[in-house]
Amino acid sequence: MSEQKNIMEYETVALDDRGPAVVILDQTKLPGSVELIRLTSAQEIWDAIYYLKVRGAPAIGVAAAFGIYVLAEGIRTEDYDAFLEEFRKQKRYLDSARPTAVNLSWALERMEQIVLQNPGKSVKEIRTLLRQEAVAIRDEDIRVCRAIGEYGLTLVKPGDGILTHCNAGQLATVKYGTATAPIYLGQERGYHFRVFADETRPLLQGARLTAYELQASGVDVTLICDNMSATVMKNGWVNAVFVGCDRVAANGDAANKIGTSAVAAVAAHYGVPVYVCAPTSTIDRNTESGDGIRIEQRPAEEVTEMWYRERMAPEGVKVFNPAFDVTDHSLIAGIVTEYGIARAPYTESLQRIFEQKGSHPLT
Ligand code: MRU
Repeated sequence: MSEQKNIMEYETVALDDRGPAVVILDQTKLPGSVELIRLTSAQEIWDAIYYLKVRGAPAIGVAAAFGIYVLAEGIRTEDYDAFLEEFRKQKRYLDSARPTAVNLSWALERMEQIVLQNPGKSVKEIRTLLRQEAVAIRDEDIRVCRAIGEYGLTLVKPGDGILTHCNAGQLATVKYGTATAPIYLGQERGYHFRVFADETRPLLQGARLTAYELQASGVDVTLICDNMSATVMKNGWVNAVFVGCDRVAANGDAANKIGTSAVAAVAAHYGVPVYVCAPTSTIDRNTESGDGIRIEQRPAEEVTEMWYRERMAPEGVKVFNPAFDVTDHSLIAGIVTEYGIARAPYTESLQRIFEQKGSHPLT
């Protein structure tokens, strides 16, 4: 179905009121056409995540939570053990769709806990609880992103230039985005930021999604190719870099879209601070450093032909196509979470962030 509304009015990922289905905005079609698609089977949900129809770490987490709930509705048994076994099978399958964004396994784990904590309840009651938990994960994302926006806004001033890489915007979350949250809150308050959006090869999340949603929101956004960040920084046009992330290790190393670490290295050269915006759901304290983060490798065609009118590389050429890279914590000026801004040394500051989360949960 094709509709005419501002892109910011669409839900990135939602539950269908008419019956158990996940409804997503197909991001592979943006900005050319706005299409909502309905997902009901495990294969459809897995494909939507793998093929980036729904993408960005928090949105993937919400899609997985809604997805496993929808699949749980389809498990045809009233026996708890049989239900748990099938639930786990579906969970493992969805979890295999993308390896780097920790929100995928984080959300699925949270959903499994609902099943494990309620062995005395009927399967029907457990399904109801699963729905509630999935909706809670969705609703929390809005509060978390807004809080990240508030903290992020303290790092910049009206009129600043901000560079961002990939899309850590509303389309990657439920609302506000992470890296874009300070930009949207600043927009509400008349900060007049000038934003530079890296196009983000090879899948062009910056050109297709970030430039699109910022422009639709009335933000002053300029699209640049990935190899232009040094130029805009050298010109003095960038006061801060805000990026999202897919997994932050305990020591502050942060995996984000391929090219982020190059931006951070350039920013260090020009003295521009780099802030990683990370909901605590994206912080993986079980992974000690970036060396332990599994980086997704994607098909060669994304580099050689996708988005071109015709293939732009010789047939048979070797291609290296990692979807993410790890920015060393030494290049990060701060990690902006919903509980405040963590600064180096990150092992200690991230620990404090989680202590605060434990004592004053935002949810
Ligand atoms: O491959 P993608 O498009 O899912 O990559 C997305 C990113 O790298 C985002 O910056 C990250 O997931 C944070 S989204 C708030």
